[in-house]
Amino acid sequence: MTKQFPEGFLWGGATAANQFEGGFDEGGRGFATSDTARAVKPEERKTMGGEFSSPMTLERLTFAMEDKEGSYPKRWGSDFYHRYKEDIALMAEMGFKTYRMSIAWSRIFPNGDEIEPNEEGLAFYDKVFDELNKYGIEPLVTLSHYEFPIGLVLKYGGWKNRKVIDFFVRYAKTCFKHYKGKVKYWLTFNEINILGMTGYLSGGLLFEDGKLHLDEMYQAVHHQFIASALATKAAHEIDSENKVGMMLARMEAYPATCHPDDIMNAIQKDQSNLFYSDVQVRGEYPRYMNRFFKENQIELVFEPGDEAILKQYPVDFMSFSYYMSSVTRHPNNQTPEQKATAGNLILGEANPYLEASDWGWQIDPVGLRVTLNKLYDRYQIPLFVVENGLGALDKLEEDGSIHDNYRIDYLDKHIRQMYEAIEDGVELMGYTMWGCIDLVSASTSEMSKRYGFVYVDADDRGQGTFDRYRKDSFYWYTDVIASQAANILNN
Ligand code: BG6
Repeated sequence: MTKQFPEGFLWGGATAANQFEGGFDEGGRGFATSDTARAVKPEERKTMGGEFSSPMTLERLTFAMEDKEGSYPKRWGSDFYHRYKEDIALMAEMGFKTYRMSIAWSRIFPNGDEIEPNEEGLAFYDKVFDELNKYGIEPLVTLSHYEFPIGLVLKYGGWKNRKVIDFFVRYAKTCFKHYKGKVKYWLTFNEINILGMTGYLSGGLLFEDGKLHLDEMYQAVHHQFIASALATKAAHEIDSENKVGMMLARMEAYPATCHPDDIMNAIQKDQSNLFYSDVQVRGEYPRYMNRFFKENQIELVFEPGDEAILKQYPVDFMSFSYYMSSVTRHPNNQTPEQKATAGNLILGEANPYLEASDWGWQIDPVGLRVTLNKLYDRYQIPLFVVENGLGALDKLEEDGSIHDNYRIDYLDKHIRQMYEAIEDGVELMGYTMWGCIDLVSASTSEMSKRYGFVYVDADDRGQGTFDRYRKDSFYWYTDVIASQAANILNN
């Protein structure tokens, strides 16, 4: 029997406006948090230095907004704003069934709190969706992906302020109404759990004392939960065809040993990650968070009716990003050295069975099958892998080719594991490879961390032609889609 993915599987690629679109000062777009992120130095790569992981202050924010010297690559991204036709044609050439992208909130509501939207911003995405439609590519649209209008940071203090719920819901409704019939798959917040870890990029939170404040971050997350549920309600009311998903940065954490304390530690790691999907899929706060909140002196403010909103409007499907797995060890079992690196929330300690990318991300294809099984066991709703891929240093050869066998190898192994998970019984809607056309890194703001099937000729300072070149993986993925992966699964 020929092995292949099921008919209707949504193959494609993913990008986000903040890292890909550019045109940050065109078409009436307002300033966004992502516009203030400087490219980190290569030596900071493995710690994800910069705005992604460190608390933002008003002083740094003001400096970045006025800085004429620094390099802020997310402002120009890969220039999709001017090259969307060429890019969509490349996606069509690969046979994409779907394209995950995001709308920049500050292109639609430049300051975030206007009553009327910016028509020029709406018109830009009309052109993009029409172009996708021309090739039969289904858009999957994230409403908030690692950017947030600076106007809402300065005037309201970001998502810790409950008023922001109304502004988001107005923005979401505007999109649902305006793009009715053109878009039916929506995600509300990209990697909603990252707000609980970093605060600024997606939450617009400033921390003047240079420390992250858990109580403000979780209050902000609560407001996003409510906003997402209300947006889901509106999406269904405006068009019964709409399907709304939540999006989690899935962090599969293995216990370092079979010591019971390490096992318990891994369970707690899972809880801190799955808290977000527990709320958005099941519609209520899980009981294990009560203890966490109590021990961290977090007293969340719930308004009357919040619980009912969460319960009544859960998401239709669950999407997630998966790049790596990590290893976790109970503090009692850590050496002083391990204790010192334990602060790195995302990367954790090294797994001796796995290799890591140049950025220290541990490559673990089987971990994707583990995660798919675990999530499906827990929720029994359709899953969607909306990000997966390898950030690497690519070399553009003189003849315009790029030989990225390491990327093909990474993707091949992950696709095989997705197939196994489907065979295990997991309902999987699709797969959108992250950064299908090279774009700026979210965590380090470098252009040189490349993910794409298509190379973009630009460096970390925005120098280059921005011309597009097909990598070897481009042709490989074309064959994968055309054969429903039969070309790799039967070899
Ligand atoms: C996810 C984000 O965390 O991972 C993307 O949703 C991001 O925006 C991707 O680009 C890869 O991370 P990075 O830091 O390598 O760009």
